[in-house]
Amino acid sequence: MTAHPLPPESLRLDEAFALEQDRADSLASYRDAFEIPLARDVGGDGAPAHQRSVYLTGNSLGCMPKAVRTAIATELDDWSRLGVEAHLHGRNPWFPYHEAFRHAGARLVGGRPGEVVMMNQLTVNLHLLMVSFYQPTADRFKIIIEDQCFPSDGYAVSSQAAFHARHAGFEAAKAVVRLAPRPGRWTLETEDVLAAIEQHGRQTALLMLGGVNYLTSQWFDMAAITAAAKKAGCTVGWDLAHAAGNVPLQLHDWDVDFAAWCSYKYLNSGPGAVAGAFVHEQHGDRVDLPRFAGWWGNEPSERFVMRPEFVARRGADGWQLSNPPILSLAPVRVSLDLFEKAGMDNLRAKSIRLTGYTERLIDAMPGNAAGERVEIITPRDPARRGCALSLVVRNQPRQAADRLKKAGVVCDFREPNVIRAAPVPLYNSFHDVWRFVQILGEVSKG
Ligand SMILES: Cc1ncc(COP(=O)(O)O)c(C=O)c1O
Repeated sequence: MTAHPLPPESLRLDEAFALEQDRADSLASYRDAFEIPLARDVGGDGAPAHQRSVYLTGNSLGCMPKAVRTAIATELDDWSRLGVEAHLHGRNPWFPYHEAFRHAGARLVGGRPGEVVMMNQLTVNLHLLMVSFYQPTADRFKIIIEDQCFPSDGYAVSSQAAFHARHAGFEAAKAVVRLAPRPGRWTLETEDVLAAIEQHGRQTALLMLGGVNYLTSQWFDMAAITAAAKKAGCTVGWDLAHAAGNVPLQLHDWDVDFAAWCSYKYLNSGPGAVAGAFVHEQHGDRVDLPRFAGWWGNEPSERFVMRPEFVARRGADGWQLSNPPILSLAPVRVSLDLFEKAGMDNLRAKSIRLTGYTERLIDAMPGNAAGERVEIITPRDPARRGCALSLVVRNQPRQAADRLKKAGVVCDFREPNVIRAAPVPLYNSFHDVWRFVQILGEVSKG
């Protein structure tokens, strides 16, 4: 998508400008659909009783949509009124409950209906998908990942390699290729990823990167990297924890083999929420792929016939194991409704403006012309990043993070010196980021 940041000549640094932007924002009303924690409740010392925090940590745990309470209460009521009958006769019958995500879930990541299923948690899904899509041999056994991947992904791929090594006849220690940024850089260059594919491609069984990096918010050129890896004969999977609901995705058209993401960050579905998985249509009915099977992956018409044979349901649904946790899926339904109504393209357009505005305010902080106080390590090109900005704070970063919290700003701190701030277009305002940068200006003086 073409990036449309706010034109520099139109941008002013005063509070009135932020408020004007909020008044002109066609998505501004979505903020009211969310519970934004009060500053006092999240460490804001002495904040007025009703003042909302500046919540900039939707890349960790998104705010709660107000409609979630009713959605869960509806299922609790149906359970209490109907018991087991709610599977077929509840207001949202539980037996086909996950079908509600067929279209909305697919649209969110650019999949076709049937390519997406909501199930389990992220790392669990990565393992289940690797059971099918990491099929190493003695000649082709490597897995390419980012050196700076979220540790869980590193553990998952190393343990998969160790699981296969002896039988497939390769050394587990040589299986995982970790791509590190160039010395002195925070982010990977696309050309370096492509060069690594060129170098290791023929021995690589799987390339699995994070679509948007968790630490730097770098958005990889997923189309180019997927195409190059597929050309080299690798299977391609993406961890979309920081991409789903954040950036527009075209998983089907990019020919991605599989992907997995969590729903508690940008999808605002609550702590440990049910995660998402994508399996490309071309693999949806492949019976040659090994898979761990369970009864919910069966053809629905076969589920209650109780036959010993497993008849996989076509598409991503066929990777399900257990009957879905309805109370945990109710928030996902609320969340995807919000995304459907707001529209991913509109959200992305606002996101580009909001993050670009945040970036300009930080650059314009007194004494910060060349990042002397706060360096933005996220790529400067809006097409290469999600909504979050990662900031290296030079003076006493830990104390700066504590002082932000005391001033009612919720963002997260990664040792030794990175503050991550995610202006989320669904519920953050221009005034939020204006307040954030005013406070950042103060606390980064040291
Ligand atoms: C990029 C990435 N991958 C994996 C995980 C682990 O997710 P889970 O605990 O849901 O398996 C996270 C968690 O934040 C993450 O950010």
